[in-house]
Amino acid sequence: MMRITMIGTGYVGLVSGACFSDFGHDVICVDKDAAKIEKLEAGVMPIYEPGLDALVATNVKAGRLSFTTDLAAGVADADAVFIAVGTPSRRGDGHADLSYVYAASEEIAKAVKGKTVIVTKSTVPVGTGDEVERIMREGAPGKEIYVCSNPEFLREGAAIDDFKRPDRVVVGTEEEAAKEVMRAIYRPLYLNRSPILFTARRTSELIKYAANAFLATKITFINEIADLCEAVGANVQDVSRGIGLDGRIGAKFLHAGPGYGGSCFPKDTLALLKTADDYDTPVRIVEAVVQVNDARKRAMGRKVIKAMGGDVRGKTVGILGLTFKPNTDDMRDAPSLAVIQALQDAGATVKAHDPEGVEQAAKVLKDVEFVADPYAAADGADALVIVTEWDAYRALDLARLKGLLKTPVLVDLRNIYPIDEAEKAGFDYTSVGRGNGLVGELAKAEG
Ligand code: UDX
Repeated sequence: MMRITMIGTGYVGLVSGACFSDFGHDVICVDKDAAKIEKLEAGVMPIYEPGLDALVATNVKAGRLSFTTDLAAGVADADAVFIAVGTPSRRGDGHADLSYVYAASEEIAKAVKGKTVIVTKSTVPVGTGDEVERIMREGAPGKEIYVCSNPEFLREGAAIDDFKRPDRVVVGTEEEAAKEVMRAIYRPLYLNRSPILFTARRTSELIKYAANAFLATKITFINEIADLCEAVGANVQDVSRGIGLDGRIGAKFLHAGPGYGGSCFPKDTLALLKTADDYDTPVRIVEAVVQVNDARKRAMGRKVIKAMGGDVRGKTVGILGLTFKPNTDDMRDAPSLAVIQALQDAGATVKAHDPEGVEQAAKVLKDVEFVADPYAAADGADALVIVTEWDAYRALDLARLKGLLKTPVLVDLRNIYPIDEAEKAGFDYTSVGRGNGLVGELAKAEG
């Protein structure tokens, strides 16, 4: 059993803290936000993540997980202190804003007592570990402190499962004493046979950015192929299947759609470009990915307008799904924002449904009417647009929807309906990259 202190109760900090306690470790989660800590103590989660409330409740009850605003108390007896505070894009220049990481480091330095491993779990640019180490040396001279990097790869909506069954764990340290503590912390994963990769600290920091940039590239690649499919009369889902079965390519992250969003890909690709720029080593592929993805989100608005006949002035559009992906309430860089903006700019009225995201969406969307169920979004609208593929939208009563719409226009930006099903229901149906409406023999045979 290790004593772990987690600084920051955002997505990564809270999920990691709860999972470490579930591994049997003694975990204290620290946050400056007293209201948040109070809520957590009362069992109220600050984010929507499936399974998290139960996981927290179980471990709090078992006495392994607690919450506090008192950083010093949490740090004093810890074997390892994880820094999991935010690293948002800095306004103006796109660099990762490291002020929270450094502020936390200074406070930790003041509170550290015995041998402690300081772990950066926040996504931080290459070299941040060196700076954290400098702060430790200055703030806690002579103390036995090791600074290592341990990026987190969990996805929102599948966070607990991703944390407990990761494809790999990456730990950036060359110090044997730090490796020992990290091995003890991740011992349950060793038993699960998850690969644990020890690298140099800078390498570990870069792995996180390289992974996210590669995944963003994969999505953007298939999105451009989808456009080409529409132009030449081919089907992107069959192309994905046809290339994804090649083990060198892999089937995941080849779903064409309205462009990637979320708290990581947009921010991390930008930060990688900044690092590349600083070191005068451009990564042009990632530059292109960022541009293409930004343009794509806006283009999706134009796609809807085209499907509605080119003029949406005075018309009403129903939107299904606002969050950047299903099973989260996160609206950060969600494609819905650009789609709705384009529609409103063109004179349309928007009403929208989302199973979990309305509270967050209401903070960032103006002049949108939020409705309580998907059918209300269709009621009296001139078109219905699926922007986020929540499961709740996968088996809608199409006949009922068609009856509610003023005109039977259905735009499916996530390809969740078979074309023949939508057309049989009488819809004028538009999707992404399905140029000929055919379903490949392979896909058919596999059901
Ligand atoms: C991502 C990384 O997957 C994770 O490893 C990292 O730690 C944080 O960033 P997350 O942002 O939670 O996780 O979501 P993810 O499931 O990766 O989706 C990101 C975006 O890409 C979403 O907007 C999603 O809709 C989009 N996407 C994903 C596609 O458009 N097509 C795909 O095939 C996959």
